[in-house]
Parts: sequence; structure tokens; C-alpha cells
Amino acid sequence: MDMDRLISDRARAIDASGIRRIFDLGARLKDPINLSIGQPDFPVPEPIKRAAIRAIETDHNGYTPTQGIPSLQAKVTDWLKTDLGWDAKPAGSAAPGQPSTLITTGTSGALSLAFAALLDPGDEAIIPDPYFVAYPHLCALAGAKGVLCDTGEDLRMTAERVEPLITQRTKLVLLNSPSNPCGVVSTPQECRDLLELCRAKGVLLISDEIYDEFTYPEFALDKAVGDPSISRCPSPARLPGAQEDVLLIRGFGKTYACTGWRLGYAAGPRELIAEMAKIQQYTFVCAPSAFQHGVSECFSVDMSDQVRQYQRRRDYVVDRLAPLTDVPTPGGAFYAFPKIPAKLRVSDTEFVDRCIERNVLIIPGSVFSSRTDRIRISYATKMEQLERGLDAICELMG
Ligand SMILES: Cc1ncc(COP(=O)(O)O)c(C=O)c1O
Repeated sequence: MDMDRLISDRARAIDASGIRRIFDLGARLKDPINLSIGQPDFPVPEPIKRAAIRAIETDHNGYTPTQGIPSLQAKVTDWLKTDLGWDAKPAGSAAPGQPSTLITTGTSGALSLAFAALLDPGDEAIIPDPYFVAYPHLCALAGAKGVLCDTGEDLRMTAERVEPLITQRTKLVLLNSPSNPCGVVSTPQECRDLLELCRAKGVLLISDEIYDEFTYPEFALDKAVGDPSISRCPSPARLPGAQEDVLLIRGFGKTYACTGWRLGYAAGPRELIAEMAKIQQYTFVCAPSAFQHGVSECFSVDMSDQVRQYQRRRDYVVDRLAPLTDVPTPGGAFYAFPKIPAKLRVSDTEFVDRCIERNVLIIPGSVFSSRTDRIRISYATKMEQLERGLDAICELMG
């Protein structure tokens, strides 16, 4: 069969070579010090595991409503009320003008549905540069143009940087805070300015908050520190009326270490959520059933110990790197995105190759960016591994 003739231009437009190269290299290394991993290193908390196991054993293994099981929908709705003051009723039961929620197949599922529901060929979506690897490809899959917003040396996506990029074809601006790969957390003022800009221009603001629980105290909302009933992350979704014009996307995978369960949720303008639910009905159908029961337990699980541990690792990484190079202090998530010292005169891929020679796996910044002068270090790993990895990286930088 002539597959070359059959494969779509859409599929061809996706180039996964950068990240694949790292996976291939990693597979060849024997017992590497792996600082490339984008998921937590702690186990899923027991009550969440038990609830998923119970669901399987009590035969909750079939399709669920597309919007998600009612008990999880209700918990997400309650959480959005507590955390953001939103009145988010499940899709279908919401009165016109009210926001609604949709349980999705991972945060990626929510992003895919949102892009499919919003973007026509030729439309534009403004995404940060550096970006989470999937963003440009999700734009391409929708036939749209991903317009990169250069976030400068401080790696911050500000209204000032976004405004000149907005055109007649712009449908959405995507904010990711805390960010992957930079760990940058937007300030409340930056969130406000971006939302005001989007409102003024009539474009949707999507807030990808998959790392919201991993927001460290200096960058968190004052009132949230020590109060487990409020998430720590500054967000445009907290601003008055935001439920009408912010699409909020959050996930369970990173917070509770269950990335393979594929669960997230979207909440926001009711008309948009209804379109996303319609597309989910004919694509993903529903999020995994038993795991929806599992994560229903998560709202009563306190993760502050894990967040504190990650904060200590963040401090360690910054303390080691700051004397050698420019490393914006990560306010959240579990990544640092330092610069490769200019005096070395090497590209990011060359620097990564040198690390690999020392059995240390990190990711070149160009996998996430049009720039080639940074690397991503994940500190979601045991302290002993982190120490050995940083010994090698610092020696190379020094
Ligand atoms: C910023 C960001 N958004 C979305 C995702 C996708 O997450 P999920 O595994 O829930 O699909 C990731 C995963 O790394 C991410 O870093």
C-alpha cells in the first residue's frame, strides 16, 4: 500500500523528532540519572488508589456520561466554588450564561477538545514561547497557526508582549502558569492585565493550570498558604466575571501522581463546554471510568508535604545553578529552565550530549522553544539523583 499517498498533511505537519531523540537516547543509557521526567516521583495517595480499586471491583467499568460521573462533577463544581467563587454547574443542567464543567481524558484531552471547538483553518492561537510541547502541534492539528509569544529573558507571558500579536484571526490566548518548562508563575496583576486585554480584543483566554497545586509560597496567593481549601495559584479565573470568558483547564495527573490515569477537567463558558462535550462524545467518548471514581477522593487529600519536598528540591537546584548561570527561580511546577553559560559556546543539544556522556538525561530547551540557549531540568526525582545530576551539570557549566 502506498502509505505515502494516504497519510494526511495534518499528520505530516507534526514533527516529534526533538523529544523522540531524547527518549531514544534515554532508552540506550544504562541506569541514567534522569532529570527529564515530567511527572511526580511519589506514589498515588492511598485513599485515591483504594477508591479506583473499589470501583473496578464493584463493576464500575463501563462507559460513563460524557460529562463525567455525577459524583466527580459535583466535587469539581464544589471545588471551583470554594477556590474561585465560580458557580459551575454540569453541562446540560446549567442555565444559559452559567459556566459548566467537563471531565476530560487528561489535560491534553481538554486542550484538544478546546482547540477543536474553537479553531478553524487559518485561525490563530497565541501560545507562550517556551511552551508545553503539545501546544504548537495541537494548533497544527486544528489547521490553525500557533503564534509564538516571545516571553523574553524573564520568561513571562505579559499583556504587553501578547498585544502586538493579536490580529483579526486570533481566537485564543493560552496562558500556562505555573509553566512547563520554565516553572514561572504569573502574578495576580499579570493575570488581570491579560484578561483585560483578551476581553478588550474579544478573544478567549485559556488558562492551563495543570500544576496549580505546585505553587511555592513566595509566588502563591497570601491567603492560600496554609489553607488547603484554596489552591495556591494566582489565576485569571479568580477575577470577577471570569467564568464567562476564561476557559480553565486543570488536571489530576501531576498533582496526585496518576498521569497514566488520564484525567483532567475543563470549566468555563457554557456554550464552549457544550461544544467540547459534543466533540468528546464522538472522540474520547468519556474519561476512564474507574479512575474517575479514584480521583473523586482527591479533594480531601492534603498534598502540602509533597509540595514542601518539591520546594526544597527547587531551592537546591537554584542554589547550585545561580552562581553559574541565569536561572529564573521557579515559582511552581517541578522544572527549572536555566541558560547555558554563553562562555561555553555550545548549543542546547550539544550541552545535552555532554550531559548524556556523563549519564545524565535532561532536555534541550529547543524542544520547547524557538531558542536554543537553555535546558530543562526536572527535579521530580529523589534528592540523591538530583545531587549527582547537578554535580555533572555544574561541572560542565563551571
Ligand atoms: C503545561 C502542561 N499542560 C498539559 C499537559 C498534559 O497533561 P495530561 O497528562 O493531563 O494530559 C502537560 C503535561 O506535561 C503540561 O506540562
